[in-house]
Parts: sequence; structure tokens; C-alpha cells
Amino acid sequence: MAELYIANHPLILHKVTLLRDQNTESHKFRALVREITILLAYEATRDLAVKPVKVQTPLAEANGFELRERIGLVPILRAGLGMVNGIWELMPQAEVWHIGLYRDERTLKPVEYYNKLPVDPTVQVVLILDPMLATGGSAVATVDILKRWGAQRIKYMGIIGAPEGVELLQKTHPDVDIYLAALDDHLTPEPQKPGDPPAGFIVPGLGDAGDRQFGTG
Ligand code: PRP
Repeated sequence: MAELYIANHPLILHKVTLLRDQNTESHKFRALVREITILLAYEATRDLAVKPVKVQTPLAEANGFELRERIGLVPILRAGLGMVNGIWELMPQAEVWHIGLYRDERTLKPVEYYNKLPVDPTVQVVLILDPMLATGGSAVATVDILKRWGAQRIKYMGIIGAPEGVELLQKTHPDVDIYLAALDDHLTPEPQKPGDPPAGFIVPGLGDAGDRQFGTG
């Protein structure tokens, strides 16, 4: 079984709390998504391969390292987009390949609407980016697409996960590492009465990460 990492760093705990707050406005929400992604990426990239290189300092030659593998970022549209810039600050050479999925409101199943992956894989390591791992359907569908494409090493980076989503992703793709800023309690059930929230939302969660980032809620 691959790694399941749930953050416990004080900075992430602090920032996730601000992210959950319903009074946090879109511009602040976007900044927090970016910052949390950077902190989480520190863990998710811990095992990237490096190769030795020499570097000339102002005083002498020193032994150093550079990343050996080509990294691909795959944000799941829309909400994953907000996680790209944070990682690009750490790894400006990372390639970005978009996959568009939306969750059908009735069935909660992911529907693919955009995929422009090149014919053959161009990277050795893929980081899937999506803030919300709810039922896990979107994550599993994305890994399916990437494996059919030929991706060798796939890691999933999210911000909030539900136990249901983690379980489905681990069961279906036990080779995919999962990195989350928080693991929440459960998903909302089918609404029973008017005013109940729709099914499949993470509780306590943070609402709809796409709407909150893009100001469309
Ligand atoms: C949200 C989220 C994930 C998906 C998670 O996207 O960003 O992609 O739902 O749900 P799942 O684990 O049950 O599949 P949404 O469908 O709301 O699309 P959006 O990002 O365009 O708002």
C-alpha cells in the first residue's frame, strides 16, 4: 500500500482553519489554497530522485543536486487549478496537463469533459491536484486516465479528504500515494427535507472549493 499522509504541521492546521471559515473571501481563499499546496508539496515531493551536479560558488566548487525526473502536474478542473501556481513556485519546470471532470449532481459520478494529454507520457512523476477528495470518483477516474496514458508514478495531492474517498482511492489504486491537509469526518447523505445540503459534500469540509475560489457560489 502506498503512503497516506495527513498533514499535522502547525502552519497547515492554521491555514486550513481559515480556509474552512465561511467568512473567508475568494481572494483570501485562493491565497490559502496556494500556500497550503506549497506546504503539502514539501511532503509529496520528498522522494523525488536527484542526481549529483557540481556548482561553482563565489569561493569554490561545491557538490550539489538537481531533480532528475520530469514532473507533471495534473489539476482536475476547475478546483485543482488553484493548486498549480504554488507548486510552480517550487518547481517552475513542471509540465501542466489539464483534465476536466465535473461531478454529476444526481449520480455523483465524474463526467469527463476535457483531456488534452499528449499521445505518449512526457513525465516520470505525476501529481494530481484537486482540493476535494469526496466520494473519490473523480480521483479514481483521473488515475484511470493517467494509467491508460502510461503514467508510471502517480501521487494525489488534495486539501480536504473524506474517509469514503480515501478508501475508494486506496482500494482501487493502492499504488497511488495520497497527501491531504486534513481528513474530515463523513459525506452528507441524501437530503431528507427542504434546506438539507446536497449529498456528497465533505463534513465539516469547506463547501464547494471551485465556487469559493472562483467567486461563483
Ligand atoms: C469537486 C472537487 C472534485 C470533486 C470531488 O469538483 O473539486 O473534483 O468534486 O468529488 P468526488 O471525490 O466525489 O468525485 P466539482 O465537480 O464540484 O467541479 P468544479 O471543480 O468544477 O467545481
